[in-house]
Amino acid sequence: MRKPFIAGNWKMNMTHLEAIKFTQDFGYEFRNSKGCEVCLCPPFIALRSVKNIIDSDRIEVKLGAQNMHWEENGAYTGEVSPLMLSALGVEYVIIGHSERREYFFESNEVVNKKVKSAFKHNLKPIMCVGESLAIRESGRAEEFVLCQVDECLSGIEKKDIELLTIAYEPVWAIGTGKTATSGDANDMCSAIRRKIAKIYNPETADMVRIQYGGSVKPSNISELMSMSDIDGALVGGASIKLEDFTAILNF
Ligand code: PGA
Repeated sequence: MRKPFIAGNWKMNMTHLEAIKFTQDFGYEFRNSKGCEVCLCPPFIALRSVKNIIDSDRIEVKLGAQNMHWEENGAYTGEVSPLMLSALGVEYVIIGHSERREYFFESNEVVNKKVKSAFKHNLKPIMCVGESLAIRESGRAEEFVLCQVDECLSGIEKKDIELLTIAYEPVWAIGTGKTATSGDANDMCSAIRRKIAKIYNPETADMVRIQYGGSVKPSNISELMSMSDIDGALVGGASIKLEDFTAILNF
């Protein structure tokens, strides 16, 4: 059985002071009624403060980063390494988010290097894939997403894949208020799982958690979570609204 997994991607929002306040309030409001694994992914500058509150207030959540470089250290001005994240007690790291792909030109090859490096440093990647509206309208969405899965996972061992989370996030649904229908989202998640079964084996595919992301909100989470191949959600905008995020976690 795959444990449901909901992660909040705060994106470039909140100063570390706002993050501290939010996490304290969240700890006060949050009751894990669904036995779900929950992860908060604040900006780098707030990781340390958020971690301290999670520990001191014993909040049942994991800590995730939104990105990382693949190297351990070196002359990469402005970057943050997997070693630095592990040292902070970060457990998850979002890799290849469509905003990274679009605005920072991250290719499948770069995503692949980052996923490999995350595993090497005992970080669990949440690897994002998803098609643009133009690709969806051309009828090639599945082919495109499965190619992303294939290229991003190139050379990654089976034992690591079991710890992988894949987030299927159709680009046209991110931050737009448009959600894929639960049927369409589930079809893509099933196709991704079949692809993993083909590259590795059906048992491994059965263990990989696949999240849906793109305008997840309190009103659509229950239906999404009821689908056979959707194991959770990667939540953006609604994850920094306390009431919405706690409602989502109580789907
Ligand atoms: P959204 O973002 O929930 O605001 O659409 C999702 C994401 O980008 O992970």
